[in-house]
Amino acid sequence: MPRLEVFEQDHLQMAYGIFMLTAKNPVVRKLKRIAKPNIHGHKTWSSSFLIMDYLQENRLKKNRRVLELGCGWGPAAVYCASQQKAKVTGLDLDENVFPYLEVMAAANDCKVKPLQASFGDMKGKQLADFDVVIGADICFWDALVDDLFKLFKRAKRAGVKKIILADPGRSTFDELCEKCEKAWPAAYTHEFWYALEPKRFEGRLLILDFD
Ligand SMILES: C[S@@+](CC[C@H](N)C(=O)[O-])C[C@H]1O[C@@H](n2cnc3c(N)ncnc32)[C@H](O)[C@@H]1O
Repeated sequence: MPRLEVFEQDHLQMAYGIFMLTAKNPVVRKLKRIAKPNIHGHKTWSSSFLIMDYLQENRLKKNRRVLELGCGWGPAAVYCASQQKAKVTGLDLDENVFPYLEVMAAANDCKVKPLQASFGDMKGKQLADFDVVIGADICFWDALVDDLFKLFKRAKRAGVKKIILADPGRSTFDELCEKCEKAWPAAYTHEFWYALEPKRFEGRLLILDFD
């Protein structure tokens, strides 16, 4: 059972078996005084629910080593740790997101290892430690298209088996999809997907299956 007693239950949202802190949660209000995320990591983003919904139907094997890129508060990371029994690392360039990641994990009685790094920092040697790479709403600037595509190339070479990216449907995400389809036509899938928890949300999934 999640350790809910330390959190204000009125300001928790539930989706796909995990609890998420809302902006009005007293713990979040306190954290905001000390940690101010500044690259859009100031809340949980809905694309994460697409990954959760996809994984409900396409479960990870037990003990998969998962890296969430641009984890922010880490809803997808926490879901993988709590509901898919994965060993999860949450990577973000902005160290101010990690206190939120920590309380989200604590609210769900699981652990996510924080890793402060940029997409460009992740070399093959580090990527070799992971089976699956996920990311939700992380391809929102032009420069990120190339950063992520290059990271995917290194990840494939390092033996990462699967990459799952979710997005509301930005043009930068389309660009990334085009590059991936051209580079790895056999591994590439693009899906229109929707999540029904905590409410209906439509978006896209990019899946690269290198296995
Ligand atoms: C829109 S938020 C999404 C957060 C989280 N994935 C979610 O769905 O709630 C984008 C996240 O990517 C991180 N980010 C942006 N550029 C990055 C980079 N080059 N390397 C690592 N993280 C980055 C930001 O700090 C932020 O936490």
